[in-house]
Amino acid sequence: MSDMNAMLQENVKKRRTFAIISHPDAGKTTLTEKLLLYGGAIREAGSVKSRRAAKHAVSDWMEIEKQRGISVTSSVLQFEYNGYCVNILDTPGHQDFSEDTYRTLMAADSAVMVVDSNKGVEDQTKKLFKVCKMRGIPIFTFINKLDREGRDPFELLEDIEKNLGIHSVPINWPIGSGKDFKGVYNRQTKMIELFGESSHGKAVGTSVTGDLDNPEIAALLGNALHKKLSEDLELLDIAGDEYDLEKILTGQLTPVFFGSALTNFGVRPFLETYLEVSPPPAARSSNLGPVDPVSDNFSGFIFKIQANMNPNHRDRIAFLRICSGKFEKGMTVNHVQKNKKVTLSQPQQFLAQDRVIVEDAYPGDIIGIHDPGIFNIGDTLCQDKSQLKYDGIPMFAPEHFAKIYTKNALKRKQFVKGISQLSEEGSIQVFRRPNVGVEELIIGVVGVLQFEVLEYRLLNEYGVEVQRQPLPYRYIRWIKTDGPFDKKAFSLPMDTLIVEDEYEHPVILMQNEWTIQQVLDRNKSARLEEIAERE
Ligand code: G4P
Repeated sequence: MSDMNAMLQENVKKRRTFAIISHPDAGKTTLTEKLLLYGGAIREAGSVKSRRAAKHAVSDWMEIEKQRGISVTSSVLQFEYNGYCVNILDTPGHQDFSEDTYRTLMAADSAVMVVDSNKGVEDQTKKLFKVCKMRGIPIFTFINKLDREGRDPFELLEDIEKNLGIHSVPINWPIGSGKDFKGVYNRQTKMIELFGESSHGKAVGTSVTGDLDNPEIAALLGNALHKKLSEDLELLDIAGDEYDLEKILTGQLTPVFFGSALTNFGVRPFLETYLEVSPPPAARSSNLGPVDPVSDNFSGFIFKIQANMNPNHRDRIAFLRICSGKFEKGMTVNHVQKNKKVTLSQPQQFLAQDRVIVEDAYPGDIIGIHDPGIFNIGDTLCQDKSQLKYDGIPMFAPEHFAKIYTKNALKRKQFVKGISQLSEEGSIQVFRRPNVGVEELIIGVVGVLQFEVLEYRLLNEYGVEVQRQPLPYRYIRWIKTDGPFDKKAFSLPMDTLIVEDEYEHPVILMQNEWTIQQVLDRNKSARLEEIAERE
């Protein structure tokens, strides 16, 4: 192997690229911050959180812009720990939950699912989990807020299995809960770790470790907790799933960790086991078959496009996930879909809280590249002339729909241009009723904030004022039939609407989830799909 390849292999091996999925308020920001703290990327916990507090004050577009600024810099966070190079991909939640949140999961090699110990699996977690499951990536579970009285740990495992349909294997087990949350028992090393001081979670915490029979540990625990732990462990051994690495790596079994991100309890044991077990960047599938990350050919795909914060400049940042080869600043690559050469001169990387110009980067890394409007979501860039195309990024189901009209018929051209640019960036999906012109478009979005962004940007960047009429639909499915779709032969339940997507594929909009089954019952030969291929 050449020196170059050996170095590349070394860099691939130490990379871990993951996204944190959770429902708002489960503790994603807090856990991210604590991982950065343990990784030495920030000195004191508190800084990331205070920025999130600012995020809550969103009221007008300038605020949205500021918020996007925050999310650009915190979109990808990189730090080193124990010889690993860790990339955490931010999955926007709260008001900025959008299709980007799903798309980010396409760039991750594994996911960390944060669950609130009091609430169990919640709605947004379920949605994000589905995408991880579809990709077959490993999912690690961190059950958070053990410093508060929450549900019984056994009950939480059952909740995960019932709500998500995935088996779980606790790697560590909590000792006590609420005020009495003292530590965790590691079922692999059979060691107890009792947590100590962490300056209320601001600093890396201290801990003592020892086995169950260690008299010092037993004394620190007290009789009641010691007995409860022994009983729990016995029950787990009888009733729980067995550790199976193969199943973990294919996303069929989730390793579970218990802790408290706020007080740092359980953060380090989680991080260390996660890094050991989780996979480095693997071969990605493409039109030319799987592409090995250790390759002479630098390549990657674009999974997210973010508009510039400054409305006077239309340029954007495209987020590229590197899949193979070494990236070097200033390199010229092929933009396969456009059949064009592009020089990547000002690539940015996101280190902890700062954006820096990146000199080189490796598979698993994410870089932000300047986009003068030439990139689309799913585009492949590669160094050689192979015409390599990575599998596309699908369109995910929008959950909110509205009719959009221009107020001024003379602005129709700008209206169409603006809509098509926003759709390219992937912030909206555009649907049409067959035989109805562009003056009446149906826009679908994953998060309602995207409607405000759409209106603001059409007005400010294209000078187009629009009117929005919300539609009552919440569910969308792409209709698949064996032959060409025949609308007349299709039996539609009440309160549904058939429209076409940007590629003129038929989709059905529905108000209730149960209508989906009704449509299937009435149209036996049709299939309904929740995500669709981009073309
Ligand atoms: P998110 O990014 O998933 O939305 O959640 P975030 O980390 O912002 O946490 C949501 C709230 O839960 C915050 O409280 C945070 O302090 C709290 N939290 C996070 N982890 C833990 C934990 O392990 N234990 C406990 N008890 N609380 C936790 P907040 O009141 O909204 O904000 P703040 O005033 O505390 O900053």
